[in-house]
Amino acid sequence: MRILTGIQPSGKLHWGNYFGAMKSMFDLQAKGEDMFMFIANFHAMTTVRDGALLREATRDVALDYLACGLDPEKTIVYRQSDVPEVQELAWYLSCLTPMGLLERCHSYKDKMAHGFEATHGLFAYPVLMAADILIMNADLVPVGKDQKQHLEVTRDLAQKFNNAYGEIFKLPDAYIPESVATIPGTDGQKMSKSYHNTIELFDPSAKKKIMAIVTDSKTMEEPKEPEGNSIYEMYKLFATPEEVAEMAAAFRAGNYGYGHAKKALLAAYKRLFDPFRERREELAKDPDALEDILRAGAEKARATAAPIMAKVRQAVGL
Ligand code: ADP
Ligand code: TRP
Repeated sequence: MRILTGIQPSGKLHWGNYFGAMKSMFDLQAKGEDMFMFIANFHAMTTVRDGALLREATRDVALDYLACGLDPEKTIVYRQSDVPEVQELAWYLSCLTPMGLLERCHSYKDKMAHGFEATHGLFAYPVLMAADILIMNADLVPVGKDQKQHLEVTRDLAQKFNNAYGEIFKLPDAYIPESVATIPGTDGQKMSKSYHNTIELFDPSAKKKIMAIVTDSKTMEEPKEPEGNSIYEMYKLFATPEEVAEMAAAFRAGNYGYGHAKKALLAAYKRLFDPFRERREELAKDPDALEDILRAGAEKARATAAPIMAKVRQAVGL
C-alpha cells in the first residue's frame, strides 16, 4: 500500500498539526507501509510571497517532521520543487480539467471569502495536488477533512486522463481517520493558524500560552465537568489514560482549579516534546545534512515518478 501526503510550509506547525496529521503518518511509518511525504512549497506560493520566508518555512517543516519521528530510511521525504515533473504532469492534467470542477472547490471559494486575490495559482491548486498524488501512484492519501474535495478532484482527473489516454493512473483514496479529534486552540475553537489560537510544536512561549488558555470563571473550590474543557481535551492528547482519569476525578471532586490543570498540561507537553526539541536542535546545527536528506529523498521520488511519466508522455503524444 503506497501512502503519500504533503504539507504546506505556510506557517509554524502546531499541536493540531501534530495530533491531527503528523502522528498518524508516524504510526503508518511504524507499520512498515510504503511512505512518501513531501513539503508542498509550490502550493505554499499561492499564499506566501516572500522568498526568504518560504525557504525558511520549508526547512522548518522538514526539521519538525524529522525531529518528531519521521525516519528518512523508512519514509521518502522530499521538497515538491525538487521533483519538477510534478509541474509537467499538472499541465497535462490542466488540459483535461473543466473550469466548473475547480469553480466548485470550497477551498478556493473560502480563500476568496477571506480576501485573497483570485490568482490562477489558487484556482489551479487542486490540479497541482492531483499531479503530486498521481505521479507517485499513491493508493492512500492521509489528509484533513478540508482536503476531501481535493481528493475527489484527483480521482476525477485520473479518470478523465485514463478515459482519454488509456489506463495509466490508479484512483487514490483519501485517508481521514475518524478517530482523530479536532484539537481545540487556546480560545476553545479549532486550533488553526488562521485563528491565531495555536501553540506551536516548539513554541518558546508555550508556557505563557498554556497559562492563558480561556476557561470559564468557576472558582477553584467548585466541582467542574472536565468533558469539553479545552485544557482537559488537550491533556488527553499528551497524558496516559490513568493520568487523564486522575485529572477528570480531580475536576469532579472540586478544590482543583484550572491553574492546576494547566500546570499538568505543561508538564505532559514537555515530557513528550523536550526530547523532540533536543533532536531538532541537533538537526538544525547541520544544514548540509538536512539538505542531503532532502536531496536523497528527491532522487528516490524522481526515480518513482520516471516510469509513470514515461508512459504519460508516450500517451499524450510527446
Ligand atoms: P491550519 O488550520 O492551522 O491552517 P492546516 O490546514 O495547514 O492547519 O493543517 C494541516 C493538517 O493538520 C490538516 O489537514 C489537518 O489534518 C491537521 N490539523 C490542523 N489543525 C488541526 C486541529 N485543530 N485538529 C486536528 N487536526 C488538525
Ligand atoms: N493541500 C494540502 C493541505 O493544505 C497539502 C498538499 C499538497 C497535499 N499536495 C498534496 C496533501 C498531496 C496530500 C497530497 O493540507
